[in-house]
Amino acid sequence: MSRPNPPAPTPRDVAALLQDARERTLLLVSPVPEAELMNQHDKLMSPVVWDMGHIAHFEELWLVRNLEGPVRFGEMPGMFNPFENPRSVRGQLALPRLADTLDHMATVRRTVLDHVQAGDTGRADPGLLDGGYVYRMVAQHEYQHNETILQALQLRGDETRYRAPRAIATPPGRPVVASEDGMVRFPGGTVEIGTDDRAAAYDNERPRHAVELAPFRIGAWAVTNGEFARFIDDGGYQARSLWSDAGWKHREEAGLVAPQFWERHDGTWWTRSMDREMPVDPDRPVCHVCWYEAEAYCNWAGRRLPTEHEWEAAASWDPSSATKRTFPWGDEPPTAFDANLDQLSFEPAQTGAYPGNLSPIGCYGMIGDVWEWTASDFAPWPGYQTFPYPEYSEVFFGPDYKVLRGGSWATRPGAIRNTFRNWDYPIRRQIFSGFRVAQDD
Ligand code: AVJ
Ligand code: FE
Repeated sequence: MSRPNPPAPTPRDVAALLQDARERTLLLVSPVPEAELMNQHDKLMSPVVWDMGHIAHFEELWLVRNLEGPVRFGEMPGMFNPFENPRSVRGQLALPRLADTLDHMATVRRTVLDHVQAGDTGRADPGLLDGGYVYRMVAQHEYQHNETILQALQLRGDETRYRAPRAIATPPGRPVVASEDGMVRFPGGTVEIGTDDRAAAYDNERPRHAVELAPFRIGAWAVTNGEFARFIDDGGYQARSLWSDAGWKHREEAGLVAPQFWERHDGTWWTRSMDREMPVDPDRPVCHVCWYEAEAYCNWAGRRLPTEHEWEAAASWDPSSATKRTFPWGDEPPTAFDANLDQLSFEPAQTGAYPGNLSPIGCYGMIGDVWEWTASDFAPWPGYQTFPYPEYSEVFFGPDYKVLRGGSWATRPGAIRNTFRNWDYPIRRQIFSGFRVAQDD
């Protein structure tokens, strides 16, 4: 099944799309002094000014140099090429200063808009221009680096805390409808996974294909801080039998005793979001846990992580009509009414806060709040074709990476949908990561 591409965006649409992406980037970095933007606070993340320069060079590659003929990702200047300079070394690069970086971003943008306004598409690959894909790809890339920047800012130490531009509060939680044990049932059967969308979806989401699923049960909500605290109180971090060999090894080496940013004071767990400290709210999804912590929790709870197929089926598939939704609630793109996305809340919301963020089978909050770890390795769907460059997905396929789904509070709405696939190492937890549980039916 394939639908035709939507009409290509007009030059005015493109200008608005790219401008919105840039305004957000500039809003996020504006509270940060230049020295802090240049500084690498943690080996896991880039200096923020690197992300800014990389955003501009990526845009230049696809929206300017691509007009002169097909480009290869390797043409990105070495300094901003993530493969030539992995995150761990980006603190030692002679990065351009902030003013030069901002000038470069603005100059590239001027050039891009001049081409767009003139209708000059040069020798760009028609497949890239089709439906305006390349513009959405560049916008999504900027959104994704916005989330990366937020991960870096959250890691900053005591003296240099980020003054988060909180623009919206999350609504209070509401009771959720589920069976006594908090699980909802998926009946199994033939389910369509992935998408044929060529307007926004990345190559790794394509093509749409049928899979057979056994019946399963899945958590109606993402595991909460309160639930996770019971695992801690029950000695979960000390119980060897709950951890896989690799998980236990990592737990010992990294000294894991609680989710990242949790601290215990006088018997109460506290956490921190950017510049604010607060007692851990038992009703919000647990965040900043690695895949191994999620795995151990599941073992403790007598559950397991959902596979990617199961996660996507639970979020998108309506078994009663055999139809698929782009978002849990339908095909309408997310607004602030629908889900906790778009960065400016700076925390996950309480469970049930968005009653309409409900999938056909009855799972709450699958989009937004926290990325949800799945059991699955990052692998191509059957019929996968690299498009437009292997360095987005292809080079990461394999057993090293686990897939996360659903986006977090730090994800912009244009970079999330039921078919969107994110991936990271199972030891990572500076990302905004949580999980939900599953079990065989
Ligand atoms: C999809 C989040 C794993 O950050 O490595 C950014 C996104 N790709 N620039 C990453 C991405 C190219 C990617 N993740
Ligand atoms: Fe990038």
